[in-house]
Amino acid sequence: MQHPLEEAGRSSRNIDPCVLVIFGATGDLTGRKLSPALYNLGREGMLPPNFACVGFARREKTHQQFREEVKSDISTYSRVKPIDEKFWTHFQEQFFYHQSDFDKDEGYAALATFLNQLDARFATRGNRVFYLSVQPKYFPIIIEKLKKHGLAYDIHQTTDKWSRVIIEKPFGHDSDSAAQLQKEISKHLDETQIYRIDHYLGKETVQNLLVFRFANSIFESLWNYKHIDHVQITVAEDIGIGTRGHFFEEEGLLRDIVQNHMMQLLSLVAMEPPVNLSATAIRDEKVKVLQSIRPWAAQDFETSVIRGQYGPGFINGEKVIGYRQEKDVAPSSNIETYLAMRLFIDNWRWAGVPFYLRGGKRLPKRGTEIAITFKDAPGVLFQQRGKRNDPNVLAMRIQPDEGISMKINCKVPGPSSPIQPVKMDFRYGSYFGQTPPEAYERLIWDCILGDSTLFARSDEVAQSWHILTPVLEEWARKKPQDFPNYASGTWGPKAADEMIGKDGRAWRIL
Ligand code: BG6
Repeated sequence: MQHPLEEAGRSSRNIDPCVLVIFGATGDLTGRKLSPALYNLGREGMLPPNFACVGFARREKTHQQFREEVKSDISTYSRVKPIDEKFWTHFQEQFFYHQSDFDKDEGYAALATFLNQLDARFATRGNRVFYLSVQPKYFPIIIEKLKKHGLAYDIHQTTDKWSRVIIEKPFGHDSDSAAQLQKEISKHLDETQIYRIDHYLGKETVQNLLVFRFANSIFESLWNYKHIDHVQITVAEDIGIGTRGHFFEEEGLLRDIVQNHMMQLLSLVAMEPPVNLSATAIRDEKVKVLQSIRPWAAQDFETSVIRGQYGPGFINGEKVIGYRQEKDVAPSSNIETYLAMRLFIDNWRWAGVPFYLRGGKRLPKRGTEIAITFKDAPGVLFQQRGKRNDPNVLAMRIQPDEGISMKINCKVPGPSSPIQPVKMDFRYGSYFGQTPPEAYERLIWDCILGDSTLFARSDEVAQSWHILTPVLEEWARKKPQDFPNYASGTWGPKAADEMIGKDGRAWRIL
């Protein structure tokens, strides 16, 4: 199979017919992301011609009611608007609804019969994608029932059709629970059938990290401790937790963003070149990065890992409430909505180079970027009266305003010749002039194709928990004394500035 990163563009490849079953079809993710993704894939001719989608959820609903809800979600959330009525009129005929509890055998038996009927009607040949967009506690039971009712196939016995399961994050709550979950689901599924989603990997700009690093010759020789002073990875959001109080009280920012999205960015930016572009080769290299992260010594936690929680403040001039006042949040909650950390990757490439990671809710603006700061030029020429020139910085903007910029020093025209840093800037939007596909489009498409490159493998997930679980344990031992410790609309707690400041560096201004 040709690898997605090798393709010149999105095209309909030889794609198997299939039925996609979405568990949790009335949930938020389905409405905001999955339905619009299916619509756009369908509209662009990317889905198999023989395709059907079944929404599985607990509420009573007719097929027609489900279709109307899907349409309304597409109209609200699709990246392309308005909805193409002519296309939708036909496409909606491929959407169905199946009501059942997640733990009831009858529901799965009925689903099996229904899917067989759809196979006969749409020639979908028994191929299945099951998308588990449900609370993590339901993952094991759904997978067990899928196997029990012959919906998830044994890959050793069934070779003429396939079944794959997409599992939403978070995969586990810490090292032990992730290992337990893995143990449970691997009783029923082979690793090749499991697609652990981290939607960051479906973002065009994240995929471009590999192309940028390994399809250009000029960067690789500089990409190491000899030339790089430090790396900063920022995932900033201006939104609060909105209606997700219950979820956030369970998870917090470390589990929601750091363990998955930020660790994926870190491994892509730090990995060695893979031997080829296969899913195995790429994931092998990513996991080696995670294995090389130096564990924090007990005395380092205070100085290398900073947590925060937002208080009331202003976002874009509007007053907003603090985390503890949000719906479904305990008034004395100690859950973190901000995290900054410094870590080291103890391998030959990165020895001694600090990686600073920060992520948070209710920061002044939304912005995800990876910034590589290079070492200073030798200070023998062009020093400006005791002042260092700015270092070169390569910033890869993941979102929004997707692009890559390089800060270089330049002579200001004129006889006095002061030196000024300037930016060379590449912007996806203006250069390619099109809206990139949403991450979920890419990931659903890849799963139907059987390409797991952009999904997390079990050892990656386990390794990431292995690094971060000690932080969770330390936090459980020591409750924060100063929460809330940053006002909404500011760049996080002072302690995070002090952490990087002690190293003689500062957070980038986004
Ligand atoms: C999700 C988190 O995985 O990613 C959310 O659960 C977060 O809390 C979201 O807001 C950010 O995704 P994106 O694509 O908007 O950066």
